[in-house]
Amino acid sequence: MKLTDKQKQFVEELLNKMTLEEKVGQLNQDSPSIVGGFDVPFEELIEMVTDGRMSQEEFGKIMATAERDFHEDDIRAGMVGSVMGNDPIKANELQKIAVEETRLGIPLLMGFDVIHGLRSVYPIAIAEAGTFDDDLMERTAKMAAKESRAYGINWNFAPMLDVARDSRWGRVSEGPGEDPFLGSRFARAKIKGLQNNTESTADYVAACTKHYVAYSACEAGRDYNTTSMSTSQLYNVYLPAFKAAMEEGACSAMASFNDLNGVPCTVNSYTLRDILKGEFGLEGFVVSDANGIRECVTHGIAEDDADAGIKAINAGLDMDMGTRIFYNHIAQAVKDGKVSMETLDDAVRRILRVKVWLGLFENPYVPQEVIDMYSKVLPKEHVDLCEEAAEKSIVILKNEGSLLPLKKTSKITLVGELADRADEVVGAWSLGWEASDCVSVKAGFEAAGVDFEYYPVCGPEGDLNADELKAAIETETDIVVAVVGEYKSMSGEASSKADITLPGHQQEMLKKLVAAGKKVVAVLMNGRPLALGWESEQLPAIVEGWHLGIQMGTALTKVLFGEVNPSGKLSSTFSSVNGQEPLYYNHPATGRPGSKSKFTSKYLDAPVEPCFPFGYGLSYTTFEYSNLKLEEDSEGIAAVFTLKNIGDVAGTEVAQIYMQDVTASLVRPVKELKGYERVTLAAGESKEVRIALRKCDMGFYDNQGKYVCEDGLFRIYVGGNSRDLLKDEVRVKF
Ligand code: BGC
Repeated sequence: MKLTDKQKQFVEELLNKMTLEEKVGQLNQDSPSIVGGFDVPFEELIEMVTDGRMSQEEFGKIMATAERDFHEDDIRAGMVGSVMGNDPIKANELQKIAVEETRLGIPLLMGFDVIHGLRSVYPIAIAEAGTFDDDLMERTAKMAAKESRAYGINWNFAPMLDVARDSRWGRVSEGPGEDPFLGSRFARAKIKGLQNNTESTADYVAACTKHYVAYSACEAGRDYNTTSMSTSQLYNVYLPAFKAAMEEGACSAMASFNDLNGVPCTVNSYTLRDILKGEFGLEGFVVSDANGIRECVTHGIAEDDADAGIKAINAGLDMDMGTRIFYNHIAQAVKDGKVSMETLDDAVRRILRVKVWLGLFENPYVPQEVIDMYSKVLPKEHVDLCEEAAEKSIVILKNEGSLLPLKKTSKITLVGELADRADEVVGAWSLGWEASDCVSVKAGFEAAGVDFEYYPVCGPEGDLNADELKAAIETETDIVVAVVGEYKSMSGEASSKADITLPGHQQEMLKKLVAAGKKVVAVLMNGRPLALGWESEQLPAIVEGWHLGIQMGTALTKVLFGEVNPSGKLSSTFSSVNGQEPLYYNHPATGRPGSKSKFTSKYLDAPVEPCFPFGYGLSYTTFEYSNLKLEEDSEGIAAVFTLKNIGDVAGTEVAQIYMQDVTASLVRPVKELKGYERVTLAAGESKEVRIALRKCDMGFYDNQGKYVCEDGLFRIYVGGNSRDLLKDEVRVKF
């Protein structure tokens, strides 16, 4: 976010004209509240969906017709700085009140969760990160930005940058996986895609990096739980993606719900003022997470709402999402001298700067022709991009005897309720999709003319239909494609799980199919890495399909039948059994690394190795790595190696480079990803690949939060995943 001097001056002049109340108004984000008119109180409705008395669909229908209060009078009084929503007509109406009917005509920020696309839903982030394709990540964000503007949204609560190492945590689906380096590249790509297209105000939005910070480190993977860690861990693992986003000029950040070492991130001046605004130079603002300020009372950090609000703004939190605590208490706190006018002005200035940068003062409205355009059929380029992203995100985990790709002429038995659930392909946190855009796996098969019979048999919940299973077993073909996994509601917010194996009776279905002699290709549809010990031993083929977005069925069909050679890799480690989590490849070196011998770091009843390592993913061809050489110059080290496609078809490999700092003043990870490149090779082709590693990127943060580069021995690895690697060593002087 760059402002001209003239724009900055405009903000100062505006600030000078504002009353105390108008200033406080800018810090208030309202969401349209539900007015009522239900047979039961709203709180009970929520409980009913939560405990299963009411389905998500029924709840959705009620909500779609519920009457809402958009707080028009408060907007008119200048007491609202931002509103949540994704209805362009309503957005224009509210914006009109803000611009034409308030004393100073300050437009509204329209915020919304556009995590992996709005109407054009592309793969969930954990899947998309596995493409290792920065350009693609940027293009999908650009598409989301344009589409957001067309829906009246100018501020996206994205990207979600929580590097997550525990697959029990439901929100692993929303972020870029377990690695801080990949997370940082993802962050840069997303900020560029959302924010850099500033030619026209219809093309870009303000990004909101979240959840700041260390939310994903919640103890035991239980959402909203406490976090505690050393400064070095915070800086080396959880901060890098946010730092990268700030370097790209991200406009805002959302403070996370968790406490960090005892201080809730909503009122944490060390993380907000010192690090984010001070060290990383955020020029825009920080918003709380929903209800976050009030929760400081529950945390036992503030006595009441007013106390929580004062603590939050003084700590550097600029906007209140959803509680109206700032609205109700900050003006008085300023009068009482509990919050300085300087602190208030700083918060307001940051918000106004984002509004100016967005061009909202000149172009507050969504033009009718844009609304019309997006309310019809999706543009073809959006559908194509969703398909490309879905294809590149698919990861082949196992392919014994080259069962895949399947032949289109073979007869196939398709099983699994999820195969026919077009509404499930979009995954968690997808709020703008339309059923008519979504392609299920079954629909993908049909469109491609596959010769198949379909039996749902069972899904992630509910019973197994024995008749359907019998019918599936009795089909004349021995090839079964089983679409199994999780509903989208099983990952995302408030969806942590203690058991991360295949839910319901799905494994039982797979076992019976295997016992009947079927060759089962499991196609996974899920929002978290699942524990796949049994599946990886017993099934000949496993395809990780995640929740791939609206083109899921098309993309999977092309991969399963070989029209597309898959190149996706895992952005997270997969466990074999429950109880292995948190499991991640870049863990600190222990004194007794897990091995067969007794007194080492391991479980007696689980393998030492993960089921599938970070960076892993097969292709329909085979890539061979050889001739690793390290070249050193004053800038750094380059790993130079030969990559050869030794199979029969063209393919793309994600070549990865890892590093280990062998001796350091703090225990360092056994391996750290330091670079990657997608390389496409024809059958038989080979190429010399060079991946550079700058010396300045070979250091680490110590426990004072200081970045240090220490002379010594470094191991450098290259390969196609974090386990199977070529190795060399180099002594480095900084
Ligand atoms: C989530 C955020 C989200 C916000 C607004 C919260 O519950 O934690 O990720 O942006 O709601 O919808």
